Amino acid sequence: MPISVPASFPRTRLRRNRADAWTRRLVAEHTLTVDDLIWPVFVIEGENRRDPVLSMPGVERMTIDLLCEAVVEAGALGVPCVALFPVVGSEAKSEDAAESYRPDNLMNRAIRALKAAAPDVGVLCDVALDPYTSHGHDGILRDGYIQNDETVEILARQALSQADAGADIVAPSDMMDGRIGTIRDRLDANGHELVRVCSYAAKYASAFYGPFRDAVNSGGFLKGDKKTYQMNPANTDEALREVAHDIQEGADMVMVKPGLPYLDVIRRVKDAFAMPTFAYHVSGEYAMLRAAAINGWLDYDKALIETLTGFKRAGCDAILTYGAVDAAKLLRQR
Ligand code: PBG
Repeated sequence: MPISVPASFPRTRLRRNRADAWTRRLVAEHTLTVDDLIWPVFVIEGENRRDPVLSMPGVERMTIDLLCEAVVEAGALGVPCVALFPVVGSEAKSEDAAESYRPDNLMNRAIRALKAAAPDVGVLCDVALDPYTSHGHDGILRDGYIQNDETVEILARQALSQADAGADIVAPSDMMDGRIGTIRDRLDANGHELVRVCSYAAKYASAFYGPFRDAVNSGGFLKGDKKTYQMNPANTDEALREVAHDIQEGADMVMVKPGLPYLDVIRRVKDAFAMPTFAYHVSGEYAMLRAAAINGWLDYDKALIETLTGFKRAGCDAILTYGAVDAAKLLRQR
């Protein structure tokens, strides 16, 4: 039997605008598009070889030739930019990370090949020493402490070698103090004034990087944690100070990392600085989605699009996500 209701109840019905797909589209406040996506990729030595990352189902490390093909395809789907990470063999790791700025290292060869194969796809390059140090830290380690200023000098050499190879964006992910200004000056002094600097400005000491460290073969080497340089997850005011410094030193874009647990930080950064603001939907966040989907506990496609839309809502201009190509395909179907 229908329940009788008062005639006047209710006048305002928020559900009206949800009643049809077309109204829902019309009143949507935020739109995720392929233009918002940056695809992180892993490059390995060799030829015609792909190597799955076990803790990141769907992600493969690729040799330069196969990576070029994959990036051409991503570009054809509309993905504007890739983020490049090298997998460095233990023979190339050292205390001083000298391999990181060798002009012909794997990273720099990959940059040259990608810019030749897919010139219209942006190449964002991680600037950090952790793939190259024998202890897995993002800097020079002495007396149990990561040395800030020596590390910054090596980062500047690394960024310059990437720019020389054709990098469009250099992205320091190390959290040393003062590196943005030093890198900006080094690039400008060498004719690279159009190379952009994307700062990993608010990067937290997070448990969600675990699968990435598997992928780049740095996790097994890492002694201790990164808490003396990456931020304490308890802090947000400090994130604003980090971002302010990096902008003042010349960053063109700023990033918050990880993503989902830090949406509040993204929102505060966007509101405070109105800068191009990126978030990194990191390896552990991606792995959670995949693991739950493999177990049949959630729908990967739907959860991915909802997640990325959440980043837009929080104020992101672009999102680094291992699901970029998946999302690009899904957005085409909509
Ligand atoms: C290294 C770097 C890390 C990530 C990007 N660059 C790992 C770390 O800081 O230990 C993590 C990315 C991810 O988890 O997807 N400087």
